[in-house]
Amino acid sequence: MSGQNMRLFTGLQPSGQLHIGNYLGALKPTVELFGEMEGLIMIADYHALTSVKNPKILQDNIVDVVADYIAAGINPTKAVIFKQSDVLEHTELAWIFNCLVTVPFLMQAHAYKDKVAKGLEANAGLFTYPMLMAADILLYDTDVVPVGEDQRQHVEYAREAASKFNTAFGATFKEPKERIIASLGVIPGTDGKKMRKSYGNTIPLFGTDAEIRTAVMSIVTDSTPAGSPLNPETDVAFQLHRHFTPEIPTLQKRYVEGTISYKESKELLAENIIKTIAPMRERRAALSRESVIKILQDGRDVARELAAKKMKEVREKIGVGLY
Ligand code: ADP
Ligand code: TRP
Repeated sequence: MSGQNMRLFTGLQPSGQLHIGNYLGALKPTVELFGEMEGLIMIADYHALTSVKNPKILQDNIVDVVADYIAAGINPTKAVIFKQSDVLEHTELAWIFNCLVTVPFLMQAHAYKDKVAKGLEANAGLFTYPMLMAADILLYDTDVVPVGEDQRQHVEYAREAASKFNTAFGATFKEPKERIIASLGVIPGTDGKKMRKSYGNTIPLFGTDAEIRTAVMSIVTDSTPAGSPLNPETDVAFQLHRHFTPEIPTLQKRYVEGTISYKESKELLAENIIKTIAPMRERRAALSRESVIKILQDGRDVARELAAKKMKEVREKIGVGLY
């Protein structure tokens, strides 16, 4: 990395099989941004530990998320891809930030508040989650953090941590800006509600052709008989066509004229989804577990060097760097 340009940094939770909502809402725009600027992509495995307690699942999810992003177009020779737990400075710096912010400040963080509001018990890791995320971002002199809207507050917390540290110990950290990744709106699932893993209404991104066809054919429709006009505005399949089908005006005309049935529309949608993701699926199939591990190890080496340099400065500034 040259260090000359604006630097991007983002983190990904290793959270299992991705669906086409994740692809359109998060992967695709992230891949596009990382094509323009230099940056780092971190797999947030220690953040995931606040909820995942199964080592086999965590390990598989880490490998999967790296493979998914590379298959979707991230170039590992351009972006540094590494995992959080490989760079010990993240947890070290998080501790230092924890000593600078107050308990009431952390109590306002959404991730913690939401969990408590649902009557669930939050672990201390979830409570201090934003300071680990601040450390992730600030260690690398990050300029811009591409994230979904739900992470906006966490980037504000990172700015606050930077400012607290700079005020206490002198200018050390850049204050990063969030870049809220272009929202395509909410992608509906097969039942018409937001596509979401926990709702069981997803169309898998890297599923087999058969899995994709089965999911698409299960999209709910109303009882309009074949041959009658269909309303494209209310049809779930039509909303998905908008992202995968090239000839939308033609399709819209067929809906309004009643020359396409729901069944035909869904068959066409399944084929167009398969066509769009086929090249990604081929790239993903060509990536072995070993090659993913090599990418993470190379990324680790670059990240470690940058993080070590920054932490040396931090240790000296706070007064623990005696020799
Ligand atoms: P899920 O809701 O399936 O658990 P996540 O919360 O892990 O998905 O979301 C990961 C990313 O994918 C987020 O940035 C989110 O904005 C995006 N995303 C998830 N579901 C959708 C959807 N249905 N439409 C658009 N974007 C989505
Ligand atoms: N909290 C983010 C999420 O759940 C993941 C994350 C961890 C992150 N560290 C980060 C995102 C640093 C951006 C920058 O999606």
